[in-house]
Amino acid sequence: MKWLLLLCLCVYAVQCQESDYDDEDEGEKTETKPLDPRGHRPLEKSGETYTPARNVPPPISGGNRYRGRPTEAPVERQVHEKEEQPDAGGCTHASEQMGVLCPTGCELKTAMLKQEKNVKNEVSKLEKDVDDLSRSSNTIYNYVDGMSNALRERQIISDGNGDTVSQYTDDLETQHAFVKEAINTVFPSNIRILQGVLEKIRLKILRVEKAILAQKEGCTEPCTVSCPIPVVSGKECEDIYRKGGKDSGMYLIQPDSFYAPYKVYCDQTTQNGGWTTIQNRMDGSVDFGRRWDDYRRGFGNIAFDTGKGHCNIPGEYWLGNDRISQLSKSGPTEILMEMQDWSSNKVHAQYRQFTVQSETTNYLLAINGYSGNAGNGLLEGASTLFGENRTMTIHNGMKFSTYDRDNDNWTPGDPSKQCSRQDGGGWWYNRCHSANPNGRYYWGGAYTKNMAKHGTDDGMVWMNWKGSWYSLKTMSMKIRPFFAPTR
Ligand SMILES: *[C@@H]1O[C@H](CO)[C@@H](O)[C@H](O)[C@H]1NC(C)=O
Repeated sequence: MKWLLLLCLCVYAVQCQESDYDDEDEGEKTETKPLDPRGHRPLEKSGETYTPARNVPPPISGGNRYRGRPTEAPVERQVHEKEEQPDAGGCTHASEQMGVLCPTGCELKTAMLKQEKNVKNEVSKLEKDVDDLSRSSNTIYNYVDGMSNALRERQIISDGNGDTVSQYTDDLETQHAFVKEAINTVFPSNIRILQGVLEKIRLKILRVEKAILAQKEGCTEPCTVSCPIPVVSGKECEDIYRKGGKDSGMYLIQPDSFYAPYKVYCDQTTQNGGWTTIQNRMDGSVDFGRRWDDYRRGFGNIAFDTGKGHCNIPGEYWLGNDRISQLSKSGPTEILMEMQDWSSNKVHAQYRQFTVQSETTNYLLAINGYSGNAGNGLLEGASTLFGENRTMTIHNGMKFSTYDRDNDNWTPGDPSKQCSRQDGGGWWYNRCHSANPNGRYYWGGAYTKNMAKHGTDDGMVWMNWKGSWYSLKTMSMKIRPFFAPTR
């Protein structure tokens, strides 16, 4: 009986290890049981209450700053004169102007180095376990051997002691044979499986080490990528478009002559262009789990060059709350949020009105006028939730929160109840979200509670499209002065 129990335990342990470590090579894990929609933080039994709207969204300014686009651009395109403005690169921001960082993924490297230590520890622990197991299996093997000898002796003694004893011996022999068989075949094969698992992990670590080495090399010197900035400039990307800057790429804008101009990526093709990109995610190369000051000033890489001589590919960045607020308050502003899943399906959510108040109100958000096919989570909450739970996931009328500055609607003042801490990014959290565009970047899409740092849906989530446990591949937020479409 003891043997059988031990065997069962052994087999169980082996299967456990297998399923834990095999996820990467076998591709996407298939979820057997659908996970619950998350996003909200349900009320606890202890008479807790939730006040849905602590902040009334401010009125959104009306009128038109811009007339509709004329059918022809009034100014000739001036694209050929370009001014060289080399960017200092490397792993830190070079200037106040948020220059392009070198796209070698220094942040990835840091993240990987952090992981490396954990994995190494785990493997050495596992190695010890396998050792122990093979030692204990040797002990068991010896023990069975001893038992075989004892049995043989007893057979000799019992010869001639009559039927009862011989039947007893028969039983014993059957059992002995069974145990011996198990020891000789099941044990070694289990150990072999464990060794296989270990070998796989070792290979994975080798790969990670190689990747890290490559990253280290890429980051030894600040890169010398230079991004020529087109001479055409303006208040924002719509202004630039109207002045003839019709190619998407990095431009210098100056919304207010009182402040220094800064770089931004203009999308001049989507819906006739004129879009100032305020947020972009596409490969997880920039960490979005940042402090208040980072979100206020902006962070990341505006754009980089893919060899065409100008910076026509946007990087991952957050433009900065001060800038976003200032742009959105200069007049009626619309916002376009575009996203893609890992099968390259695309959807978007567009709001005809978008305002972010200044820092004194903690960047209070006001949006309205939804259209699109991604779902209106920002205004109406997660459609998979009901009643109060849904209300908890509305973003309109919320203040901005980061992990070091809690302005959300989840038990204000309680440091253990902070949406931004749990959900991975800075955002206009309520209690907590239906959309989490600044959440953690998960490669491949589907993720689980176990993979999340705090067991919450902290991915780059848009609940009304893909639910809580799917992290999108790309996400971007672009704003444009709102004007009546040209007829
Ligand atoms: C809210 O969510 C909790 C658990 O997440 C659930 O028990 C409760 O029934 C939900 N309430 C409504 C109104 O759906």
